[in-house]
Amino acid sequence: MSPFLLTRTLPEDATDAALRADVLKGLTGTPKTLPPKWFYDAQGSELFEQITELPEYYPTRAEREILVDRAGEIAAATGARTLVELGSGSSEKTRYLIDALAGLHTYVPVDVSESALTQAGQALVEERPGLDVHALIADFTRGMALPDTPGPRLVAFLGGTIGNLLPAERAAFLASARGLLAPGDALLLGTDLVKDEKVLVEAYDDAAGVTAAFNKNVLAVINRELGADFDPGAFDHVALWDTRNEWIEMRLRSLTAQTVKVPALDLAVDFAAGEEMRTEVSAKFRKEGVGAELSAAGLELAHWWTDGAARFALSLSVAR
Ligand code: SAH
Ligand code: AVI
Repeated sequence: MSPFLLTRTLPEDATDAALRADVLKGLTGTPKTLPPKWFYDAQGSELFEQITELPEYYPTRAEREILVDRAGEIAAATGARTLVELGSGSSEKTRYLIDALAGLHTYVPVDVSESALTQAGQALVEERPGLDVHALIADFTRGMALPDTPGPRLVAFLGGTIGNLLPAERAAFLASARGLLAPGDALLLGTDLVKDEKVLVEAYDDAAGVTAAFNKNVLAVINRELGADFDPGAFDHVALWDTRNEWIEMRLRSLTAQTVKVPALDLAVDFAAGEEMRTEVSAKFRKEGVGAELSAAGLELAHWWTDGAARFALSLSVAR
């Protein structure tokens, strides 16, 4: 079997320090916010996998359709020997790329979720003899030291996860992704597209309540890691379409006036009845906007592919 390496590029206590800083800033700000990357402990990663199978949640199926149709073209255009995937999760759709890239030497999944990386990485080295898998536990918003592996390099950022970054974070992220590309390398970016509001809202407020459980999981993470006493039952899941920003916003609405204690931060946080805390944005895109954001980061759009119903797009870009 080929090697499976797992490297933690952040010291364990750096994760803890980052969580403390984010929770302190987010719970003391107005309005209250929490960054979405803290959804993804083992339970959150599992809940996300369940979301991908919901009838209402079309992005995974739409992106898979594009990959099935276009993996051969992507392989021919890039000839990648190293595939780096940011926010790789289960690496489920990535298998279409891995199989199409005939000369692939190393797959580098990068994620904050150790459980997702371990499960996906171990399964892949068993399924694909000859493929090296070098997983990185890292925060893709913080600049990463990638392993020294053969080029050309294809950096994939699938699932529409770029939409979970706020506009300024997105610009910084794309500039740092550009920095990972040498001449001949490419960026494969998945972006969910603007569409009918009802379709969008239902994708983030499913009938079975899986997205609600995913949203509330961030409270369980803060309870466990920082000793807080959030009662997930005292909050409602909210998903709304923000027309101006063209993003879905997930919030948690406090059902009553309540005070939540966060002992690790020596903090008591008051919530008014009905007060809403933002936990995620999920921006939806148009082709012109994606091209402009790539261009501002020094990237040039080379290919744009959508699924048959034009719900989701994959773009391939290169450094200018
Ligand atoms: N790419 C997969 C998974 C998407 S879910 C798919 O398309 O289905 C988003 C993934 O990004 C999760 O696995 C989560 O743990 C990871 N993630 C979120 N924020 C991150 C960050 N700042 N750095 C690294 N990984 C992150
Ligand atoms: C990972 N990311 C692209 C998902 C999304 O659609 O924004 C996370 C998610 N949030 C609610 N459902 C899924």
